[in-house]
Amino acid sequence: MRQNCAIKNSYITFKKYLKYKMHISHRQHFFDHIAQTSDYPLALEIERAEGVYMYGSDGKKYLDLISGIGVSNVGHRHPDVLKAIYEQLDKHMHLLVYGEFVQTSQVQLAKALSDTLNIESTNPSPFGLVDNVYFTNSGTEAVEGAMKLAKRFTGRSEFISCFNAYHGATQGALSLSGAESFKRSFRPLLPEVKNITHGLITDLEKITSKTAAVIIEIVGGESGVRVPSQEYIIALRKRCSETGALLILDEVQSGFGRTGSFWAFEQYNIYPDILLSAKGMGGGMPIGAFMASQEVMRVLKTNPILGHITTFGGHPVSCAASLGALKVTVNENLATDAIAKGELFKSLLVHPKISEVRGKGLMLAAEMESFDKLKQTIDLCIEKGVVTDWFLFCDNSMRIAPPLIITEAQIREGCKVILEVLETI
Ligand SMILES: Cc1ncc(COP(=O)(O)O)c(C=O)c1O
Repeated sequence: MRQNCAIKNSYITFKKYLKYKMHISHRQHFFDHIAQTSDYPLALEIERAEGVYMYGSDGKKYLDLISGIGVSNVGHRHPDVLKAIYEQLDKHMHLLVYGEFVQTSQVQLAKALSDTLNIESTNPSPFGLVDNVYFTNSGTEAVEGAMKLAKRFTGRSEFISCFNAYHGATQGALSLSGAESFKRSFRPLLPEVKNITHGLITDLEKITSKTAAVIIEIVGGESGVRVPSQEYIIALRKRCSETGALLILDEVQSGFGRTGSFWAFEQYNIYPDILLSAKGMGGGMPIGAFMASQEVMRVLKTNPILGHITTFGGHPVSCAASLGALKVTVNENLATDAIAKGELFKSLLVHPKISEVRGKGLMLAAEMESFDKLKQTIDLCIEKGVVTDWFLFCDNSMRIAPPLIITEAQIREGCKVILEVLETI
């Protein structure tokens, strides 16, 4: 009996040792074999995620306040999204390059997206309703496609984007970036890009009859969540229509319910010529899209034919997941509820070390005195099981963009930890 116990104990110890070794080696392999994007990765080892929580390989539970940067809007592994994925897996995965076969999940998603865009506005697009979807694998590919579309449709080549905006990492999208520090090392990039200040009406004069398109986020994301006035956005729409420049709204971060409406532009009584989506669109799977009216989109069919193609864009499994996420967002009223949830964050995050909490819905930024204070806060929050982050072009503000399914109790739990940490720094 005693001998059995000893064998059992040593077996358990051995298993623990193996787990420890595996743990170490995963970490080491991460640094040795995963291309690093900075010298300071978070390097958290997450084994699984469910709802608003992620679980470390050591069993530690983390409240996710950033949704993988605006991706997990319906939460991690939403059961309806999983069901849609499993059902699609049982039918088929990739069949042929984009645009050739009639694939049910793609078609259903395109129709459902068009339905979300059947919106009346007193500041409409000159080209009618957006009802045509070109699927991509990511946000940056949606930007690239939209740029090519704008060039072909207008016959112009100048683009205008905002200072401190981020639209993606590929070279066209990078050319649009409004931060020279990000672009300098990769020049030459596209030559005809001008920047304007987000929210500044007088800068709209830079949009002229030479401009192919203005690309803008209604709520500026990586600049630290900048919310413009209604007057500005309406003036922007008018200036684009007057000059014949296309208005491309980048809703890669703000779409799919994040700001309190399915699309952020709905709150501004305007309508885009081209709309971009990705991130939260996939319910955790990779997918993006650029969308326009048939009148605009049809130019991609000719001169040359097949002038914009993709192998994996609109992958059937991603489309199924995205349709699942879209239905959850609509049926569970996630967009509307995001308004009250955002207000709750604002009312709770009151502290002398936070100068401002700005944003719309659950796309929020809490501004602090300096990057050092912010970094300390983020690190300590992670130690205490709450994951937050900062922004590419605003390093004194904390990103708060939790899954939209977050409950009032979970918001209180997250804010309590943030406030406790602020007391210690
Ligand atoms: C507003 C915006 N546009 C485009 C992109 C690029 O998307 P992706 O990383 O999927 O290429 C991002 C990514 O952060 C973004 O925030």
